[in-house]
Amino acid sequence: MRPSRKASFRAAALRCFAFFFVYDAAMRFAHRFLSAAISAFAMALPVAAQTTGATGGPFVATPHSIADRMLALGRVGPGDYVMDLGSGDGRLVITAVAKYKARGAAGIEIDQGLVFVAIDNARSVGVGDRVNFVAGDLFAADVEKATVVTLYLLPEILGKVGAKLGKELRPGTRVVSHDYPLPGWKPVDVVTFESDEKVAISGTARTVLYLYRVPERR
Ligand SMILES: C[S@@+](CC[C@H](N)C(=O)[O-])C[C@H]1O[C@@H](n2cnc3c(N)ncnc32)[C@H](O)[C@@H]1O
Repeated sequence: MRPSRKASFRAAALRCFAFFFVYDAAMRFAHRFLSAAISAFAMALPVAAQTTGATGGPFVATPHSIADRMLALGRVGPGDYVMDLGSGDGRLVITAVAKYKARGAAGIEIDQGLVFVAIDNARSVGVGDRVNFVAGDLFAADVEKATVVTLYLLPEILGKVGAKLGKELRPGTRVVSHDYPLPGWKPVDVVTFESDEKVAISGTARTVLYLYRVPERR
């Protein structure tokens, strides 16, 4: 039996509607997929674009007990915003907020993979919303907000780091450097102690922490 003209029209309209529904869904999916791909690419770009090529060395974590002593030496407290330049797995940033109750903290890290690790670590101890990890070159970082800066970087670049910090940090900001001094800066405190955890890292248990305070500008 042949379908009536009305039934044929209804079937054609339904086919049309189904086609546009599927087409619309496919377009929405493609749009979302492309946007995500473009965003991921854009996130990766600043790292490459802002890299100065000056490297502070590979990831070697400050043992937790020493990270603790660095933050205590910097007298980190609720009024502070802490920045770790070359933040690795995020331990200094996370401890500053979780244990020393800093009002906020940020890590700048050249290795995007480590930034993901740090974000995960912060979330797992429940401070994900109070810390910020940025993938990029520390020389391109905006450090003005910091009241305490922590460093564990190779001595080869510390001259350049000191020049940046001297220009950009506000007077009174504390800088704590693990094992290596900032060339040309006068420490307000130097703490030396033995830590067995350092033997595997630097071949000796001897550990030195340098505390600096950014002087008033003349
Ligand atoms: C010795 S690790 C210290 C990690 C962490 N601050 C700690 O104390 O546990 C140095 C870190 O600095 C990072 N780094 C090296 N050069 C850098 C640069 N120019 N900008 C940002 N991060 C850098 C490395 O990828 C590495 O994770």
